[in-house]
Amino acid sequence: MEKQKYTITAALPYANGPLHLGHVAGVYLPADIFVRFLKHKGHDVAFICGSDEHGAAITLRAKKENVSPQEIVDKYNKILADSFEKFGIDFDIFHRTTTDIHKETAQDFFKKLHDKGSFTQQTNEQYYDESYNQFLADRYIAGECPKCGYGEAYGDQCEKCGSALSPNDLINPVSKLSGKPPVLKETTHWFLPMEKHEKWLSEWIKEGKLDGEKQHDPNTWRKQVVGQCMSWIDGGLQPRAMTRDLDWGIPVPLEGADGKVLYVWLDAPIGYISATKAWAQEQNKNWKDYWTGDRKLVHFIGKDNIVFHAIIFPILLKEHGDFILPDNVPASEFLNLEGDKFSTSRNWAVWLHEYLERHPDKVDELKYTLTSIAPESRDSEFTWSDFQSRVNNELADVLGNFVNRALVLTQKYYDGVVPECGDLSAEDQKVIEFIKNIPAKVEEKLYSYKIREAQAEVMGLARIGNRYLAETEPWKLVKTDKERVKTIMNIALQVTANLSILLDPFMPETAGKIRGFLGMNSFEWSQAGKVNLLSSGEQTEKPSILFKKIEDDFVEEEQAILRSTAEESESSDHEPQKEDIPFDDFLGMDIRVGEILEAKKVKKADKLLELLVDTGLDKRTIVSGIAQHYSPEEIIGKKVSVLLNLPPRKIRGVVSNGMILMGENTKGELSFLTTDKDLENGSVVR
Ligand code: MF3
Ligand code: ZN
Repeated sequence: MEKQKYTITAALPYANGPLHLGHVAGVYLPADIFVRFLKHKGHDVAFICGSDEHGAAITLRAKKENVSPQEIVDKYNKILADSFEKFGIDFDIFHRTTTDIHKETAQDFFKKLHDKGSFTQQTNEQYYDESYNQFLADRYIAGECPKCGYGEAYGDQCEKCGSALSPNDLINPVSKLSGKPPVLKETTHWFLPMEKHEKWLSEWIKEGKLDGEKQHDPNTWRKQVVGQCMSWIDGGLQPRAMTRDLDWGIPVPLEGADGKVLYVWLDAPIGYISATKAWAQEQNKNWKDYWTGDRKLVHFIGKDNIVFHAIIFPILLKEHGDFILPDNVPASEFLNLEGDKFSTSRNWAVWLHEYLERHPDKVDELKYTLTSIAPESRDSEFTWSDFQSRVNNELADVLGNFVNRALVLTQKYYDGVVPECGDLSAEDQKVIEFIKNIPAKVEEKLYSYKIREAQAEVMGLARIGNRYLAETEPWKLVKTDKERVKTIMNIALQVTANLSILLDPFMPETAGKIRGFLGMNSFEWSQAGKVNLLSSGEQTEKPSILFKKIEDDFVEEEQAILRSTAEESESSDHEPQKEDIPFDDFLGMDIRVGEILEAKKVKKADKLLELLVDTGLDKRTIVSGIAQHYSPEEIIGKKVSVLLNLPPRKIRGVVSNGMILMGENTKGELSFLTTDKDLENGSVVR
């Protein structure tokens, strides 16, 4: 086979929090399996990652914990690196974007594009928080997503539907600093005119062609990746600012750009390049070899990162001119947890570092389960009881049981010495045939990023082995036909040896243990498929149990931990008190008791209801984001509090005159603020 060269990246996690199982299942574990496989195949591979240490994700976290951004990134960089190491995600380098080499690389990159004229400089109005004297880009601002109606979408992205946004798209935007609606203020930035790149991007994504030449096979890209990119491109790309007004980040390397830093989504992917440089320096290699020529660049990411890796970064790479573009961007869908989305803010998560503290001996059990449910083509779900049944019914009862039987019987009958293989029966032939065919199947799946199916193929071999022993029953046959038993045990051991190779990318610890039992000191992937991996006369060892069964207690305890930590954070997560306001500002708000006369859904907006409200002064239309909490029928006649003196706003084509005031708890549940006695419509609230 021809040796390909690969540079594999896994999304740089923000150094603002630990990893949860969703990140692991979607990005880091599949990337690690793929890389282990490529390395076994003898490809020349660099596996690159690091922590993403700039941007609002970091500074907002620092503000919340009341420490400096540097302290935040130092803390979480360690936690991230440590849990990757303990879980056996073996990057060639886990770098950082706050290093000098990265700063220099990112600034040079920006400068080159700037000098080529790849950016346009534009001055326009952006949201600004007057009480904090700060512009509000990205996560500094939140509001309702115009695409799906989710109420807490960030200025750069909606985490619910994955749409990339700009602050101006948000409905009812609010500053994340002061909690107040922002004002508009002029500022100057460098923009990437993405619309200029639509034509080649669409040819590249749909046909895999770059400058008229075949660059990759578009059929190997996941449907959702192509789909999301094309829907962006077809919707028309917009210029996107590549700089920000912030005091945490890489300074824009131009005169007159004081106080401005590079946009984190420009800075971070360049982190892949600077990490490669740092690694190459350590290894005495030439980093350029990893970003040029006949090499496949592959980005493992989550679906919320698609646009940045399959549209924006490729534009930047192409404009720069010195780099290859990705050969594939295997993005995963989301993993859910026990019936709900993973949520950092609600602490609805299983954190990798905490799992590893509780169960340091169950690394491969988690790897196996997460690969079995990897959200490759659709969202999937992790539950503790599913974890239990996969470990017990698949790992323990199939794989563990088979390996144990093969080795224990060999001990019993032959003192651990591999017996000779004699004449083959039809049954034996079938197993041998299966062994011969399996490596090609596993490889084909892995090369096409179907890692979940690849693991299932390997488990298929364990199943075949298990069934083979159950059907031939050597423990009975040993009394009547000793010669035949030798052949059966030889074949069972060859299956075991094949498993120890093929399982290696998925469960390296377990595979290593099995090789230890078999006395295989080293192995070559290319030997898989052979039925003479072990020669007769070789000594094997007494096995230990590979997988302990998971008891019900374990499941109950894990579920309890999940629930208790989630509740903890819910009760403590109230918004902090806002800054004082002048008393007159309060008096300026005209709040009245009103009554809902009519209510109906707003078309294509699943959050909104259009209400007709009797305010005592008039009957007016108000659009309210309560449709997921109340049905139109149940609220007719309700007495509510209405803020009257807001300027009219057009929301989804309907003009809204005022706002219904609602109570909202930390779970996002809404309630009307109604009157306790029957006050007539128009009564004032103060
Ligand atoms: N930190 C980003 C996230 O967690 C991912 C950055 S990937 C990179 O969503 F390419 F930009 F580095
Ligand atoms: Zn959305």
